[in-house]
Amino acid sequence: MSRSTVAEVLGAPLTINKLTLKNRIILGPMAALQPTADGRPSGQSIAFLTRRAEGGAGAVFVGGSVATPRAFRESPFSPNIRYDDDAFVPDLTRLVDELHATGTGVAVFAQLFPAFGRMGVPRDGHWITSASPRPVDMGAYGLPDNVYIPGGRVTPVPQQATVEEIKELEQAVVDAARRAVDAGFDGIEIAAHMCYFYSSFLSPLSNFRTDEYGGSVENRARALKDAVAAVRREIGSDVALGLRLSVNDHVPGGQGPEGFAAVTAEIAKAGLDFVALTDGNYESMGDNVTSESGKMLRENEPQVFREALGPGVVLLLSSTPDPAQAAAAIADGTVDATMLARQLLADPDYPRKVLEGRESEIVWCDHANSCMRRLILQVPVACHKNSEMGKEHSTSKRSNIAQDAFIWAAGNRTLMAIADKAARARPQKAH
Ligand SMILES: Cc1cc2nc3c(=O)[nH]c(=O)nc-3n(C[C@H](O)[C@H](O)[C@H](O)COP(=O)(O)O)c2cc1C
Ligand code: SF4
Repeated sequence: MSRSTVAEVLGAPLTINKLTLKNRIILGPMAALQPTADGRPSGQSIAFLTRRAEGGAGAVFVGGSVATPRAFRESPFSPNIRYDDDAFVPDLTRLVDELHATGTGVAVFAQLFPAFGRMGVPRDGHWITSASPRPVDMGAYGLPDNVYIPGGRVTPVPQQATVEEIKELEQAVVDAARRAVDAGFDGIEIAAHMCYFYSSFLSPLSNFRTDEYGGSVENRARALKDAVAAVRREIGSDVALGLRLSVNDHVPGGQGPEGFAAVTAEIAKAGLDFVALTDGNYESMGDNVTSESGKMLRENEPQVFREALGPGVVLLLSSTPDPAQAAAAIADGTVDATMLARQLLADPDYPRKVLEGRESEIVWCDHANSCMRRLILQVPVACHKNSEMGKEHSTSKRSNIAQDAFIWAAGNRTLMAIADKAARARPQKAH
């Protein structure tokens, strides 16, 4: 495909429900926004997103944001942007208004985390809940490049969510979605991927319930389908509503794209406009934060989703920074747009450069993942290929020299092998 055809395909407008995106390059959700400690967007949150809008992204997804008090309490990465109270609406409105006022035509999507399920952190006397009591053996089947967990890590065993809890959470998500609409967001994404609450229902890997929420495809879809239907009733038929889903567990005993697509097709009956496809979960995190452009396409995952969902549900591809690969998948109808996370940390002007045929000027993400190590170790996210990233606003938080050295050491294979040996040699505490 020629460079001009790539630009033409990726630059074509995309309709999602009543919304039209100006092009098909989207900023994926990232908890790299430095919100305030009490859960409001900061100057840095808005400056970071504004810079990506100015770089030409057709839409930005506002990541790391919680829909419910439960999600706020148990979040594994904080602080988070909050949607769990009406008091947050004015600040959310300010974020959306400032992005719309850039005049870039960017669309702004809220990502809503209902609860963190198997990845939640028990706090304040509250335990975590999931479809079934299965913990996460972090990275059991592969970590991203240069990400290590010395000694490994298994999360606490969640309790099986009761039907009352499932219904309460559903209402809280409905309320959060209404707040997002009140704040003027152009679209809403419910986070149901990785090992988070709703994701745990979708796969037999993490759902071994015997009630109406477990077993058959219809039953495993039920919790999320009911939530989508309830949100749809609240926000009406015209607001762009979608899900973020894992398309493949990549874990023995888990489910592949056919299984996830079947469950998604059932949920889509409740009124889905789009699905953001992501790969793997926390046990196969290397598949989620991959270094290979177009891995999903090579493994035939979006193709299976398209087959199951038909052309009526917009599909967003992940982790395909090679513009020609993404354009080819859009041109042949496999997906509708490309969603990028790390590449737009490394180069916020990637969309503009691709659309103007200036690919030779792109600053490429090297997939060395120091940004990911920072996220995991709760150090302000920065990108070593883009010194401006994370410092788009004068009040931004910056890491100090000790933190930078820590992040470097945490990505060093030799040091981490020593740390791993030491951690595994330590006597285990009795529980
Ligand atoms: C710093 C950082 C923060 C992230 N935060 C979120 C998040 O809040 N929500 C989410 O769904 N994914 C999050 N992700 C995952 C990305 O959205 C994306 O799925 C992943 O990085 C793979 O896409 P990529 O290859 O384009 O980077 C984060 C990734 C990074 C690097
Ligand atoms: S730190 Fe920057 S270059 Fe490295 S993986 Fe993250 S986004 Fe890419």
